[in-house]
Amino acid sequence: MKKKMINLSVMLLVIAVLLIGCVQQESTQGGKTSNDNKIVVGFSLGTIKEERWQREIEMAKKFAKEHNFELVVQSAEEDASKQVKQVENMVTQGIDVLIISAQDSESAGAVVDIAHRAGVPVIAYDRLVRNGDLDYYVTFDTVKVGELQAQGLVQKYPKGNYIWLLGGPEDFNAYLLKEGQEKVLKPLIQKGDIKIVTQQWCKGWSPEEALKHTENGLTAANNNVVAVLASNDNTAGGAVQALEAQGLAGKVGVSGQDADLAAVQRIVEGKQTMTIYKPIKVLNQKVMELAYALAKGEKEKVNSMVNGKVNNGTKDVPSVVVDVVNVTKENVVDTVIKDGFHKIEDVYKNIPKNEWPKQ
Ligand code: BGC
Repeated sequence: MKKKMINLSVMLLVIAVLLIGCVQQESTQGGKTSNDNKIVVGFSLGTIKEERWQREIEMAKKFAKEHNFELVVQSAEEDASKQVKQVENMVTQGIDVLIISAQDSESAGAVVDIAHRAGVPVIAYDRLVRNGDLDYYVTFDTVKVGELQAQGLVQKYPKGNYIWLLGGPEDFNAYLLKEGQEKVLKPLIQKGDIKIVTQQWCKGWSPEEALKHTENGLTAANNNVVAVLASNDNTAGGAVQALEAQGLAGKVGVSGQDADLAAVQRIVEGKQTMTIYKPIKVLNQKVMELAYALAKGEKEKVNSMVNGKVNNGTKDVPSVVVDVVNVTKENVVDTVIKDGFHKIEDVYKNIPKNEWPKQ
C-alpha cells in the first residue's frame, strides 16, 4: 500500500514537472500564448444588404474553420465612418490580414493606413479601395460586367428609349460598370438609335431609388421606353416594380448583376432580360487563400495567384481577377443551376412544373 502511494506521488510529480515545462516553453516564445499564434483574419464589409454578401460571409467562415484560423467578420451597415472605426478595432484586437469590401471607395484609403501602421496587409475584396497603398485586390472584371449588361439589352432592344440606372455613387464599381455600359451604348446613342430618357445614380444601390427613377423616366417618356439598364439585381427589382405598376413588366428589357434568386426567378418569368452570374464561390475561395497565404508569409503562393493589376489612383494594385458569366432565360440551367448556385425548384418556383426545362 505504501509502495503504491509512493508510486502515485512520483507520477504526480512527473506530471507537474511536465506541465510547468509546457507553460515555460510557451512563455519563452516572446510572451505569446499558443492562442496568440493562431492566425486571425479580419473581414470588413460595407454592406450585407444584397444576398451575395451574406453567402460570402458563410463561405469565408467555412474556409476559416477548415483551415483552423480565426475570422472576424463585421458589417458597417452602409456607414463609411463606422467601417473605419470597426477596422481600427479589429487592428487593435490583433489581426494578421485585413480583407475589406469598402462602403466608400474613396474614404477607405484611411483604412489601409491604419492597417499598415500595425503591419497588417490589406486586400480589397470586390470593391476597390481608391487612393491608398493597397496591397492586393481580388475582384471580377467589373468593366466587362457593364459591357455585358448593355450588350444583353441592345441585342434585344437595338432601338428606342432607355432608362439608365447607375449604381451607388459611393462605390467605385458603379463607375467601372458605367464605363463598360458606355462602351456599348455611346455609339448607338450617337447614331440616334438609342435615346436616354433619364440617367440616375441609385445611392446605396437602393431599390427604392431605382423604383423612383424608373417611375420618373416612364412619366417623362409617356411610358414609351424599351429598356431599363439597371446596374445590379436589387435595382432591377425596383425597376420591375415600377414597370409592373404600368403593366409593362415583361415588355420592357431590364438588366442586372449578381444572379440573386429573386432576379433569376424574374428572368424565367420573363420580367428581367438578363443578369450576370459572378461566381462568388471562386472569388471568396481566392480571397481566403490569398489572406491565408499572406498570413503564413507564403510569398510564392501569393505571387502565383496574382493574374492582373488594377490602378487605384495611387498605384497598380496586384490583382486576382475572376471571370463572369452572362445569364438569360436560355442558359439559366447551364449556368447558375448547373453550378449549384441555385436549385431548379427555387428558380422555377412560380412556373408550372410541366414547363420546367429538363436538366
Ligand atoms: C458589387 C455588386 C453589388 C453592389 C451592391 C457592388 O460593388 O460589385 O455585386 O450588387 O455592390 O452591394
